[in-house]
Amino acid sequence: MLQTVKVNKKYFTKLDLSKVPSPCYVIDTNVLEDNLKIFNKLKTDTNVKILLALKAFSLKHLFPIISDALDGVCASGLNEAKLGKKYFGGLISTYSPAFKSSEFSKIMKYSHHITFNSISQINKYKKLCIDKKIDIGIRINPLYSEVEVSKYNSSNLSSRLGIHINQLDKLDFNNITGIHFHSLCEQNFDTLENTWNKIWPYLKNIVKNLKWINLGGGHHITRSDYNLNKLTKFLLDLKTKTNCQIILEPGEAIVFQSGILVGEILDYIRGDNNKIPNIGITDISPVCHMPDVIEAPYRPLLMNEPTKGKKVILGGPSCLAGDIIGEYNFLNNPKIGDKIVFLDQAHYTLVKTNFFNGINHPEIVLWNSSNNDLKVIKSFDFKDFEKRN
Ligand SMILES: Cc1ncc(COP(=O)(O)O)c(C=O)c1O
Repeated sequence: MLQTVKVNKKYFTKLDLSKVPSPCYVIDTNVLEDNLKIFNKLKTDTNVKILLALKAFSLKHLFPIISDALDGVCASGLNEAKLGKKYFGGLISTYSPAFKSSEFSKIMKYSHHITFNSISQINKYKKLCIDKKIDIGIRINPLYSEVEVSKYNSSNLSSRLGIHINQLDKLDFNNITGIHFHSLCEQNFDTLENTWNKIWPYLKNIVKNLKWINLGGGHHITRSDYNLNKLTKFLLDLKTKTNCQIILEPGEAIVFQSGILVGEILDYIRGDNNKIPNIGITDISPVCHMPDVIEAPYRPLLMNEPTKGKKVILGGPSCLAGDIIGEYNFLNNPKIGDKIVFLDQAHYTLVKTNFFNGINHPEIVLWNSSNNDLKVIKSFDFKDFEKRN
């Protein structure tokens, strides 16, 4: 089970829940802007380039705010690269474990950096990239990770992501201009430093051929206990030591704590305290609306949950027996129609929603907590369901 990230500031307490539809994601643009200020300062202090990882968050309505502060996007393939080019601009850096020939010319059209996963993919596409003057990168597997949940550990021996760091001497660095690694997950600075210390002996002699080094995502930079001073110093040192453009491509940290998922209790089934649990059926389906709850898995934080109380298992409206959000404490037995709020739901949620059971996506609401401006920017209905079938 992935540890639930603590939310240490009291966001969203002033939101009037009676004013929003159910279910809905609410993004507080103020929190987003506060996060962006942190990245902006980091950029000014270190000259690092920051790309938004679209796989984590790709709500194009917010691209104008985000693109003002950042340098571009990291894309996972054709669609994200095209979205980035069309709505975000700046540097588009595309990486995929393998590119399809049928998509590659379009991917080149939208990308400035293309990072490959293997020597064979480089050999297959390098001439095309050179002709189009696209920077070629290679993803390396540092063979070092501090990620305990194996699903999120991309750096073990059997990982399919990146070439093993000790195989770098097999590469011809004449045409490769960048190195990329992504091996962190919700981690603080020390993990980055430890990873870099493993990588550096292998890169020392290669770095003179490189233009950029991309340190991937997973840096929990906007968390209150993140050691920004150490990161700043590290990035400055790295720049001096390598003479390369250093790039970070965070996803989660950009929108960290800026979103919630609001739902309501549709039915409450009182159990008997010893054997049968109390059950709340909600209009939030973790399967459809917060898939990481099932996939990671993890237990999302419920707003205002008391430390003790009546235990209620909350689940979704789908047919899947495992469509369970988790067990939560309630001061009083929940009532039908009560609103519930799950915290920190901006990243890896809106990008992952699906229509399993024909369940609608939550509406998307932007809220500005400083002036209480509330705007529903997206609603979904049968037409959206029909279109995908
Ligand atoms: C290659 C790559 N870059 C960046 C990211 C963004 O990571 P995070 O959202 O944890 O910052 C990911 C996430 O899986 C990734 O695979």
